[in-house]
Amino acid sequence: MDPLIIGVFASGRGSNFEALLHHIEEDEIPAKIGAVISNNQQAGVLQTASENNVPAYYIERGQFETGSEFCDALEEIFDRHGINFIALAGYLRKIPTRVIRRYPNRILNIHPALLPDFGGKGMYGIRVHEAVLESGATVSGATIHIVDEEYDHGPIVLQHEVPVRPNDSPDILAARVLQVEHRIYAEAVQLFAENRVVVHGRTVQIISSETDE
Ligand code: GRF
Repeated sequence: MDPLIIGVFASGRGSNFEALLHHIEEDEIPAKIGAVISNNQQAGVLQTASENNVPAYYIERGQFETGSEFCDALEEIFDRHGINFIALAGYLRKIPTRVIRRYPNRILNIHPALLPDFGGKGMYGIRVHEAVLESGATVSGATIHIVDEEYDHGPIVLQHEVPVRPNDSPDILAARVLQVEHRIYAEAVQLFAENRVVVHGRTVQIISSETDE
């Protein structure tokens, strides 16, 4: 089985990227991060990637006349590093349809709430946690899902709950969810790396590993 060679797309500080990088090494997941791509030149994730010797690219649609040229440039990066899997980790842009079609069921996103609730366009960052608190929900959590052509919509691979406590602020809730994000992104990548995920339409089946039995 070919190891996963992951292209990570991120727009911000990159703590999910960093957690994934470390889990891949520590948990001996048959995967590696081949490149990091950001639409934000100031993003902490680019610096963290460089510090860890992961090729890092600042590339965004606005640098190109057409969407097609943007995709050509992305594909050149994918080819250069042999990218066969994509992980979005706080990427605040829509992934071009051409990329989604190039990697069917091979692009993951992490969302800091229990989808399908509190997702969709404009629902990112602290806004998600504000909305959870305003709703009076008593549980929140993190979701890993496959990316399709709609925001926060594709089949769900993993979810993990955290409690919402009475005096939570959005920042406190975000920190609690983030701890879970860091763990389940690696779990999801491991499932794909071990070829244990089967997607039937919108349903995801996880094949148990020999050691689970
Ligand atoms: C995370 O909460 C992730 O779920 C969301 O954006 C945040 C990114 O954090 N989509 P980081 O840049 O990985 O630290």
